[in-house]
Amino acid sequence: MQTATSTNIYQLTEEQLAVRDAAREFAQELWAGVIERDEHQKFPTEQVKKMGELGFMGMMVSPEYGGSGLDTVSYVLAMEEISKVDASCSVIMSVNNSLVCWGLEQYGTEEQKQKYLPRLCSGEIIGAFALSEPEAGSDATSQRTTAEDMGDHYLLNGTKNWITNGTTASVYLVIAQTNPELKSRGINVLIVEKDMPGFITGPKENKLGIRGSDTCSLMFTDVKVPKENRIGADGFGFKFAMQVLAGGRIGIASQALGIASGSLELSLKYAKERKAFGVEIAKHQAIQFKLADMATNIDAARLLCLQAAADKDNHGDYAKSGAMAKLFASKVAMDSAVEAVQIHGGYGFVKEYHVERFMRDAKITQIYEGTSEIQKIVISREILK
Ligand code: CAA
Repeated sequence: MQTATSTNIYQLTEEQLAVRDAAREFAQELWAGVIERDEHQKFPTEQVKKMGELGFMGMMVSPEYGGSGLDTVSYVLAMEEISKVDASCSVIMSVNNSLVCWGLEQYGTEEQKQKYLPRLCSGEIIGAFALSEPEAGSDATSQRTTAEDMGDHYLLNGTKNWITNGTTASVYLVIAQTNPELKSRGINVLIVEKDMPGFITGPKENKLGIRGSDTCSLMFTDVKVPKENRIGADGFGFKFAMQVLAGGRIGIASQALGIASGSLELSLKYAKERKAFGVEIAKHQAIQFKLADMATNIDAARLLCLQAAADKDNHGDYAKSGAMAKLFASKVAMDSAVEAVQIHGGYGFVKEYHVERFMRDAKITQIYEGTSEIQKIVISREILK
């Protein structure tokens, strides 16, 4: 089925279409073993390595630092294709690209960029972003993790929760409070390496969906983080987190879009094969109406994703359009996956047909990088300005 090519108003370039096609071709490789990875919470090590080789781990990073030098529109197209098959692979890719590489390239020092970006882009190492805490998820300014200023280093103490790439990452961008009196303006972001003494990771969470990706807690006890590992000026950490998440939401929106369009593609295939009452079920209006609703919502979600990406590429304000894309696309992912299971009937309820996995994977897109309720707060703040 033709998908992104129908968005004529965006006039996708030859390069963007080539990226989409390369991602679509690569995604076919992800079908192999995807059920097993999901069932056994097996991290897609080989697949991530290949994503690095193909340039999907540092898509928007300049070639100077080992990246692919592509735009956000290309990133959205690639995220959709990979998410159509395996949303676990795409969240690993999204966090590495949007939250870690983009944040480092945009705000890091030359030394920090040279030290970490080439290996993050090649897939040699993976990055993680650590903002959430046991008592600070949506309420992100309430950071309990502390980074005490000790002169030449920070002393890091605290716990982070729900960290994507938590056990597999080598580099972590950790948000921590240095000066509580200054509230959000007293927060810093530090680059923490896996082997720094005092840093341990918790066990992998046993999750409903995106089970191939690893999520865990991080515990810091008197971890000495050199001052040169701080990104940006003293107190920049909260603004850093908000900026990075604004772009990250475009990535998660396109992940949701991919889960939705994957649900539709499998449903179209099944509806043309499966017979009931003497004809393919695609000939029944009850099924046609579901397919039409799914296709309409998916096209609308894609337009929102591409709009947010274009806003980012054109240096516009993308906090609102990114939040709108995530809010809408994550609902479309959930609705489309539920309908896909319904269309598949009993087959939809078993693992071999993939749509039950899509249904489980879709849910997290309404939760991480800001719940749907947080997206509404972001959008309403912008439109009420
Ligand atoms: N860009 C730059 N600065 C921003 C900003 C943005 N998009 N949004 C807020 N800020 C700034 C504000 O201007 C303000 O700065 P000043 O003090 O200088 O004026 C400062 O940040 C504090 O802002 P608010 O007072 O508005 O903060 P708030 O407490 O009201 O919170 C919020 C705003 C939008 C609710 C925010 O807390 C938020 O986004 N929460 C959700 C966090 C989130 O997405 N968590 C997900 C965890 S990460 C994850 O899931 C990753 C993963 O592993 C997949």
